[in-house]
Amino acid sequence: MRLAGQYARNLGGSKALVVSDPGVVAAGWAQQVFASVERAGLASILYTQVTPNPRMDEAAAGAAVYAEEGCDIIIAVGGGSAMDCAKCIGLLAANGGDLRDLVGVDNVRSPMPPAICIPTTAGTSADLSQFATIVDSEIKRKLLIVSKTVVPDLSLIDPATLTTMDAFLTACTGLDALVHALEAYVSLGHSPLTDVHALEAMRLVSSNFLQSIAEPQNLEYRTNMMLGSLEAGLAFSNASLGATHAMAHSVGGLLDLPHGQCNAMFLSGVIDFNYGHAEERYRSAAIAMGLEVSGLSSSEIRKRLVAEIARLRDAAGLGGALSRCGIHRTEVHELAEITLHDPCVVTNPRRPGQRDIEVIYEEAL
Ligand SMILES: [Fe+2]
Repeated sequence: MRLAGQYARNLGGSKALVVSDPGVVAAGWAQQVFASVERAGLASILYTQVTPNPRMDEAAAGAAVYAEEGCDIIIAVGGGSAMDCAKCIGLLAANGGDLRDLVGVDNVRSPMPPAICIPTTAGTSADLSQFATIVDSEIKRKLLIVSKTVVPDLSLIDPATLTTMDAFLTACTGLDALVHALEAYVSLGHSPLTDVHALEAMRLVSSNFLQSIAEPQNLEYRTNMMLGSLEAGLAFSNASLGATHAMAHSVGGLLDLPHGQCNAMFLSGVIDFNYGHAEERYRSAAIAMGLEVSGLSSSEIRKRLVAEIARLRDAAGLGGALSRCGIHRTEVHELAEITLHDPCVVTNPRRPGQRDIEVIYEEAL
């Protein structure tokens, strides 16, 4: 946090757009970044019109401020919302036009301006991922921009920022990190390098997740969760994700629910669906999560892994059903259609059809 200004100067910046959200400003973190930028002799302006699932109009308004103020570097301080919005502001600053033209994999023409991310949650990994997620409110969909050009130039990591998260945000973001690790590990795009990070992320997150909720000021748990999130990010930014994320994006776009909460509703169903296509991988994942699997049959390991996911989810307070969030059976068909167009579904270890996804949604109702 104290080094933000120095690094902004090193990257050639003279005026920084600091992108944050009202909660992070209230916690005092944005002011620390501001002070650091000032000490380094750079000018800066704060932009905080960022909602939990950032929208295209918020990014457009931020890009207008960036241009009007003559900014030449972006510093995001916050969770996935602030960082995703900052990435989209940078993309608009560099490419102009409409973010919709950049959606999908490798459709970005010009890289964004220099960008520094300072995460204040442990889960999103937007600070090192090649993903930027933005909501198109007109069609109520989360759009994914996947491109190496949205990997920030620098991430500054300080686990102390996590101590101001409340229990629900800790739960949502921590569970997201676990899903990143699990989906990256069984992804069709996995590699020996991403495997190392994914397994270590599972180990760190599963052994510190509930503890960090129970003891929010404990820096050891917070540090381990931050490390787990980073390792999960290194894994999924390169291996990509799977059907859980594709389904969570569909619901998150429609209902404006926290991303981690959406993931929590589908992870067990997706593991059940995938299991026979990645048995050995799920066995290794179960071991990384601390489960005793020796002597168990494949079907017993599957049950134990799904039960452990459910235990973590419920203990973290994320056990609600989809119907209680306002989704009805009549919407399942359309949600499944949207899911099948999400880039994350491509690397799921088992290729799902429309009915497969509908069944997982229906089981979560
Ligand atoms: Fe995620």
